[in-house]
Amino acid sequence: MIIKKAEYIISGTKALHIPDLKVPEFVFMGRSNVGKSSLLNAITNRKNLAYTSSKPGKTITLNFYNVNDEILLVDVPGYGYAQRLVHDRLNYGKMIEDYLEKSKYLKVCFLVVDSRHVPTEDDCLMYKYLQSFDYKIVVIATKIDKISKNELNKNINVIRKKLEMTQEDLLIPVSSEKKIGVEKIHLLLESYLN
Ligand code: GTP
Ligand code: MG
Repeated sequence: MIIKKAEYIISGTKALHIPDLKVPEFVFMGRSNVGKSSLLNAITNRKNLAYTSSKPGKTITLNFYNVNDEILLVDVPGYGYAQRLVHDRLNYGKMIEDYLEKSKYLKVCFLVVDSRHVPTEDDCLMYKYLQSFDYKIVVIATKIDKISKNELNKNINVIRKKLEMTQEDLLIPVSSEKKIGVEKIHLLLESYLN
C-alpha cells in the first residue's frame, strides 16, 4: 500500500463525530501506552500524525485519520489507565460502545497488545466484548523489537491461549519502531478496497 495522503480529520467522543467519508474504517483498541498511536504512525508512514507519549493516557478522544481518501483509521484512548478518574472510565465505556454500535463503515477492530506481556484481564474483557459485534477482530502484538525471536514465539502462544483465540483468529506481530509487520497490516487494509 502506497501512502499518498495521510491526514488528521477530526477528534470526537461520539459516533456522530465520525467523518462521513463512506470508506472502510479501521479502529485500534488496546491498553493505554501499548503503542496504538505509534502503530498508526507506522502504518501511515508518518512520524507525528498521531500523538504518542511514553506516559500513558496520551490519546483522550476518538481521532480520525484519512488515508489516501480510501480508508479511515481511528485512534482511540487506551483502557486500563489507573490514574483515570472513575467518571472518565465510565465515559470511556460509553464512548467505545456508542462508536462500535453506530459506526457504519467499520470493518476491522484491531486489538493491540504488548508482545512482552500476558494479556491483562482488561485485554481479555475487551476481546470478548468486541466479539459481541459483527466486525472482524485482529490481534496485534506490538513492540516485538524489545524481545528475542524465541521469546516472541513463546509469548504468541501465551497471548493466543489467554485470549482464547482459535486457529482461524489472526494475530500479527509488529514493531512500529522497526517497521516489522506493517506490510501485513497494509495487505489486510487493502483487502477491503475494491
Ligand atoms: P495511549 O494513547 O495512552 O492509549 O497510548 P498508545 O497506545 O497510543 O501508545 P503510544 O503509541 O503513545 O506509545 C507508548 C510508548 O511506547 C511510546 O514511548 C512509544 O515510543 C513506545 N512504542 C510504541 N510502539 C513501539 C514499538 O513497536 N517498539 C518500541 N520499542 N517502542 C514502542
Ligand atoms: Mg495513543
